[in-house]
Amino acid sequence: MTDTSNLDTLERDVLSQIEAAGNEAGLDEIRVSALGKKGSVSLMMRELGKMSPEERQVMGPALNGLKTRLNDAITARKDTLENAALDAALASETVDISLPVRPQPQGSLHPITQVMEELAVIFADMGFAVAEGPDVEDDFHNFTALNFPEGHPARDTQDTFFMQPDADGNRKVLRTHTSPVQIRTMLEQKPPIRIIAPGRVYRCDWDQTHTPMFHQVEGLVIDKDTHMGHLKGVLLDFIAAFFETDKVEAQFRPHHFPFTEPSAEMDVKYERVGQAVKVGQGDKWMEILGCGMVHPNVIRNCGLDPDEYQGFAFGMGVDRLAMLKYGAPDLRDFFNSDKRWLAHYGFSPLLQANLATGLS
Ligand code: DAH
Repeated sequence: MTDTSNLDTLERDVLSQIEAAGNEAGLDEIRVSALGKKGSVSLMMRELGKMSPEERQVMGPALNGLKTRLNDAITARKDTLENAALDAALASETVDISLPVRPQPQGSLHPITQVMEELAVIFADMGFAVAEGPDVEDDFHNFTALNFPEGHPARDTQDTFFMQPDADGNRKVLRTHTSPVQIRTMLEQKPPIRIIAPGRVYRCDWDQTHTPMFHQVEGLVIDKDTHMGHLKGVLLDFIAAFFETDKVEAQFRPHHFPFTEPSAEMDVKYERVGQAVKVGQGDKWMEILGCGMVHPNVIRNCGLDPDEYQGFAFGMGVDRLAMLKYGAPDLRDFFNSDKRWLAHYGFSPLLQANLATGLS
């Protein structure tokens, strides 16, 4: 049986099936029916063992050649089908990147979020990093290390929320200010330190300008020759940048905080223009923040030598800054999740605060 004409017929037949295959699954069925274990070509190859050596000399190479040509044809068809599928996907899945961004994105940034971003941008420009600490604090970080001794009356002024005592009788607190982040930073980092710490704080208080949860931002600089002049320069630059005004008239009034010595409150001039408040100049003073040189005891409590390192700190209410700058009259509205309020006072999530094109 050395007639190879039936091989030619088979080859023509399979090749035309391959050409006609419309997808990869169909093509694979054709491959299996010809070259799979029980495929037509494979069955013919199995017959080789029963042939005489002369017959095998003719049929062996003929079958091998057929197998190779069919394999090549299948590979070529597979490439063609793959390319066609890719072209079809590219044609149907195009994205027109020249389309304009949705002009009215859904949702808006809360004014507190916006102000936090603005603070980070302004202070980053002056070389400050952003630091964070936990909302549930221990007594050491919230009070003791900040130079509030046990039983000190200043502890009572903070309207503290206490957690249930643990097995040892220690009660954690919801932090009453962002100042504990000063302590955490000084314990973790080596000076020079320049950080701001924005975040949530908690006090048991509720009226038009007080909510039990509100926001503060703390500032801390620790280095070898930092002084009140630096403090004053940083704060004046901050007020000018934040309220987007050139001229800032400010005064530093002596005050008392346990963690700073000397301590001061900073007042800035302002005026009323219709319903709005214009901060920077005017005929009235408004208290805007607390500040001072970090108390030597605080520096010592963080394992640093107060004869080698000093620095300044300041703290202020973020919500109050937002109310002053963006004119919302009642603090409680900030946390009511009223969509109408958010639509009115919110900011576009597409506009990033930056110093080059304006903060807001
Ligand atoms: N921790 C103070 C408060 O919540 C605010 C404050 C005042 C922070 C003076 C400071 C500072 O760092 O120097 O009332």
